[in-house]
Amino acid sequence: MTQGRDLDALIDGLSLDEKAALTAGKDMWSTSAIEHAALPSVRVTDGPNGARGSSFLGSGTATAVCIPCGSALGATWDPELVQRVGEMLGEETLTKACRVLLAPTVNIHRSPLAGRNFECYSEDPLLSGTIAAAFVRGVQSRGVATTVKHFAGNDAEFERNTINSVIDERTLREIYLVPFELAVRDGAALGVMTAYNRCNGPYCSEHEELVTRILRDEWGFDGFVLTDWFANGTTVGAAHAGTDLEMPGPGRFFGPALADAVRAGEVDEGVVDAQVRRLLTVFDHIGALDDDPAATERSIDRPEHRAIAREAASGAMVLLQNDGLLPLARTIDSLAVIGPNAARAQIMGGGSAGLRPHHRTAPLDALRARLGGVDVRFEAGCDIAQSTPPIGGPSLVAPGRQPGFAVEVFSGDAFTGEAGEPLLTTHREDGRLIFFGPPTPEIGDELFSVRATSRFTPDESGEHTFTLVQAGRARVLIDGVVAIDGMTDPALPRGDELFGLGSIEVSATRELSAGTTIDLVVEYSSRDAIGIYGAKLGWRPPAVPDEMERAVAAAAAADAAVVIVGTNDDWEREGVDRDSMDLPGRQDELVTRVLAANPNTVVVVNTGAPVTMAWAPDARAVLQIWFGGQEMAEALVDVLFGDAEPAGRLSTTFPIRLEHNPSFGNFPGEHGEVRYGEGLLVGYRWYDARHLPTRFPFGHGLSYSSFTIKPPRRSAESFVPGDTLRVEVLVTNVGSCRGAEVVQCYVSSDAPRVTRPPQELKAFEKVWLDPGESTTVSLALDDRSFAYWDPEQPGWRIDDGAYTVRVGRSSADISHVVPVQVHRGHP
Ligand code: BGC
Repeated sequence: MTQGRDLDALIDGLSLDEKAALTAGKDMWSTSAIEHAALPSVRVTDGPNGARGSSFLGSGTATAVCIPCGSALGATWDPELVQRVGEMLGEETLTKACRVLLAPTVNIHRSPLAGRNFECYSEDPLLSGTIAAAFVRGVQSRGVATTVKHFAGNDAEFERNTINSVIDERTLREIYLVPFELAVRDGAALGVMTAYNRCNGPYCSEHEELVTRILRDEWGFDGFVLTDWFANGTTVGAAHAGTDLEMPGPGRFFGPALADAVRAGEVDEGVVDAQVRRLLTVFDHIGALDDDPAATERSIDRPEHRAIAREAASGAMVLLQNDGLLPLARTIDSLAVIGPNAARAQIMGGGSAGLRPHHRTAPLDALRARLGGVDVRFEAGCDIAQSTPPIGGPSLVAPGRQPGFAVEVFSGDAFTGEAGEPLLTTHREDGRLIFFGPPTPEIGDELFSVRATSRFTPDESGEHTFTLVQAGRARVLIDGVVAIDGMTDPALPRGDELFGLGSIEVSATRELSAGTTIDLVVEYSSRDAIGIYGAKLGWRPPAVPDEMERAVAAAAAADAAVVIVGTNDDWEREGVDRDSMDLPGRQDELVTRVLAANPNTVVVVNTGAPVTMAWAPDARAVLQIWFGGQEMAEALVDVLFGDAEPAGRLSTTFPIRLEHNPSFGNFPGEHGEVRYGEGLLVGYRWYDARHLPTRFPFGHGLSYSSFTIKPPRRSAESFVPGDTLRVEVLVTNVGSCRGAEVVQCYVSSDAPRVTRPPQELKAFEKVWLDPGESTTVSLALDDRSFAYWDPEQPGWRIDDGAYTVRVGRSSADISHVVPVQVHRGHP
């Protein structure tokens, strides 16, 4: 992949203004080009759920493979699989004519409430970093750079643009920086993205200690550092810290402002040369400088990509509890499928990670399609919508029989289409009629208008609710008559949606009859909109007053029930943290009542982060499926009926109650800062130290098979720093089907000189075995397995003494303990 241009000569040939231009984006998603030097613009895409291309928050038309969310990938405990997922995303990034994937997200699950936990892998730094490194290797093997994000201390959304994360030095080094370090050192990441927040004082984009001293000097990172979107706040500070690229463009602090700072003598030109050299070195290395600037994005839905996404989805599913109910017998005649997430393909969390998947299948549809001969009855039981979901689905068909809306864009403010021929004709799959920036370049800063047309045929009779949120001015016409009018003056007040640039939601109701089609038109004018344009047409079906009772009755009447509960991409999204760990709405009541109505009930939990599960002791089977990506529904059917093993293990502890979690009392923060008061005791380190019971411990997950782990053999009785100690265990599948076991190795210091967590994960390996098959797992322990960070003489320190190596199936299920003596110098 090394292209080897003479970058010194190339940089010498650029003017100061040209070099400075390269340090800032050209627009939202691409870097600046310098034509005379044959330097093309390089396009970037989010990340991390897939390579979404231009389809931001449902805008655009490109579809992309949607992989399981980060907490799901963490739960695979399978770097080999995640590397293949990464390879697939590298290929997908190229189909979007992009060369940089804005992923992986490796912040830590500090609180169960953090809005972006679904994007992040784990509460444990080694698991996070190992998965991240594998992801990075996979993506980058296809000539695509990754940007490990968000560096650092961006472990919640509360006041994310200003908050100061106050993290003591040991905790920063031993927990929060480790995933970045492993992604850089073991994954050879080519990019790092700074976080919005401050970390122990400075903003992360101006953090010389983080960006230069630790990342570059200590870890040897030689890639580029870019800011999170709009995170840059200074010219001189960010340049001196070692940040290379301000995104998005046009630059506010880099670009022309950086050239001015050089001319004013505030920044040395050599600093800019170094920034440009780091950027071009990566772009040259991945071949991006030879790309065709005219290339456009494509949506390529490949069967082999579907297969990887499906393998990852079941590979991440964690069987939390099972008394033999799962896998379900194929002999059942009737199945009640219950829950607000059953008929909804809740396959990803919300925010910049969101994308338009190649396909979207709800669990209910996958069950119906695959269970020929079984009477499948659905009842939602309750509603969990926070904001009204966009109208969509099979009942919404645009002229020309395409699902969704036919969209015409016109120049000028005459939103009815009288402005003549449309400048652009496009399509949207649902009621999110949103544009990031002008829909076509020729519009520039001028006003434009949009007309979106569709026909809606409801399945149910009754009072239907239509809602409008607008960024600009819009109105909704039903059968040619204005039903909701946002064109009025003054404009509707601002609300929370569309990153705070959307209006409040306004609504209208209509009595509709099942099967009778209505015409739906949304007319939009870009008047008063900035940055984000368009409208969201939402829809709620008629309320079902007895929906809980109907669900309970359906469960009682069926041979078995599957109740699919969870959150959605409003409850778990970028920009806001949750304020409760409980399942939203009346879902806890729903689960409790369905469990009482039918003992053969499987509870399926469809969330990106832990939820309270007070009903768990009464459930025969509980399956955590995360936000499992576009193949989640198929993988769920595979697992429910035993065609696939639920091969995941928890990447994060599920506490009994929110108040038990380590960040409680120091979350989300106050007076502009969040103190990481629990220090090193993050996740299981805390529950172990406090002897707190958990709902399900870190590393936990059941198999459809069963395994024995023989007592370990170690390569030596003592560990000498600089060496590797090997711990080998024989694992045998003693069950009756092929299955996966994850052997986990924790290390504790018996008499530590300093505070140390009771045990810490230091090695793990996932193995797949046929019935009767055995294999030897070899776990390698090295210096870092025994070391802690010493702030007095900054560096990693290993104390002599007695340690215990603990091998088991979860942090709470240790099968064997082995003493190890550590001493410097050979005995
Ligand atoms: C997010 C980043 C993302 C960027 C571009 C920011 O709001 O924090 O993770 O890559 O937007 O969409």
